[in-house]
Formats: sequence, C-alpha cells, structure tokens
Amino acid sequence: MADVFKPILIFDSGIGGLTVLREARVLMPERGFIYIADDAGFPYGGWEEEPLKAHILALFERLLATYDPEAVVIACSTAFTLAGADLRARFPDICFIGTVPAIKPAAERTRSGLVSVLATPGTVKRAYTRDLIQSFAARCHVRLVGSENLARMAESYVRGETVADDAVLHEVMPCFIEQDGRRTDIVVLACTHYPFMANVFRRLAPWPVDWIDPAEAIARQARRQVPLVDCALHPDQHDFAVFTSGKPDFSARRLLQGFGLQIADAVTG
Ligand code: DGL
Repeated sequence: MADVFKPILIFDSGIGGLTVLREARVLMPERGFIYIADDAGFPYGGWEEEPLKAHILALFERLLATYDPEAVVIACSTAFTLAGADLRARFPDICFIGTVPAIKPAAERTRSGLVSVLATPGTVKRAYTRDLIQSFAARCHVRLVGSENLARMAESYVRGETVADDAVLHEVMPCFIEQDGRRTDIVVLACTHYPFMANVFRRLAPWPVDWIDPAEAIARQARRQVPLVDCALHPDQHDFAVFTSGKPDFSARRLLQGFGLQIADAVTG
C-alpha cells in the first residue's frame, strides 16, 4: 500500500504553483503537500536553457533526498517544458506530473481559430511548445507571446503591491489579433503565475476571450497518478513551504500563511 505519510511536492520558481496547490488540495484531500519555491532562481523565464536545466536537476537531487515524496508536480511550464524529460530519466522511481501550455484544449475550443499563448520567454522558445502546436493545433493560427515582465508583476500583485494597468496591458495586448473579420477568442495562460492576474487581464482586455488556466487539469492528472488512500490527514499535520533563498520577505510569508503553509528552512547543498 502507498505510504500515506509521503508528501506530494509542488514545485515552481515562485508563487505561481500555488494556483495548482489550491486545486490539488481539493482533489487530493488525504495528502500532505510541500510547496517548493525556487525563489533563488526566479525568474526562470529569462535563463538560458542549458544552465537552467542543470540548475533544476541539481536542485532536485537535494529536494528528493530531503523530502522523499510520493510524487512531484512541476507546477511551472518554463521548468517542465525544458527539464521534464530529463527529470524523469534521471529519477525513474519518482512520479513527475508536469505542466505544459494548454494548446490542445484551446485548439478544441476555439471558434475563430485564433488562439494566443501567453507565457514566459523561455516557454515560447521551447521545442516542446512548437511540437504541441504542430501536433494539436495545426489548423489554428497560434500566436506565441513571451512576456518578459508578467511573472514578476504577478509576484508583486499577489503580495498586494500596486501594478499599473498600462504596464499589464503592454504585456497582454500582443495576444489580441484581428484578422479577416475574426478575433482571438482564447488566451492560454501558459505560466502558472498568470492566473493570479486573470481578473486584471479580463478587465483590461479589448474584447472578451476565454482565459485558460491549466491548474485544475494538472491537479486532475496528479489525482490519476497518485493512489487514493482511504485515510484522513492527521489534524496536526500541516503543509509547509520551502523558499530556496532561505529568506522569503514578509509579504511572501504572509501570502503563504494565507494558503495554510508553514515556512520551513531552505534545503542546503
Ligand atoms: N510559473 C512559471 C511558469 O509556469 C514561471 C515563472 C518564471 O520563473 O519566469 O512558467
């Protein structure tokens, strides 16, 4: 039988994976979670591919040795589209659940055939993303929008800081295309940070579109992979969060506490 006390790791470069944690808790109520924010490496979006891959693999050597999880959810498209295959090859005994841009559901749902993918610069460059478009959206016009600044803006926004509307609009506006009397009708939020700002995007959008948030689909996939154990959590068992910098600021601590996460010490080499 699966060990009920083994936690599920939820991993992101920052706070974006909290959008996935929220859904995962709903679908896996009997499981304990450890949230890992690699804030020392944030933002992943601007890294070169090889150094980022090496960084993630080395970090996982330590994380897996320290926490011995039942499964790992890579709640970060930038990390998974780059290092997902290598993580699975390097750690074959661990179940990794990944995050990829939701291009397939967008292609199935669009009526206009104009779909935009809003992601980090890293994710839009990936061969993985191009392959998804070729495999599932060949009949659509897919615009890839790599935003330099939105992940940082989302970090500020969820901490309660002011983010100027025009700065957000500048990042999001390239998603909106009009062509031959048709308009973009779906924007894929292909970075787990972005759903935190969906309400701002919706308010600023020049016309209404569907904003696809992958969090629930990722949590459903995790539920399928992680055995259901008929045993409730112990009332004293708390989920916790680890920041790789070892020094989350006050607003990050407050945010994580709002998610019911206790802050633990950083993993060291
Ligand atoms: N939340 C991450 C993603 O899904 C990336 C943000 C970043 O580190 O640039 O892509």
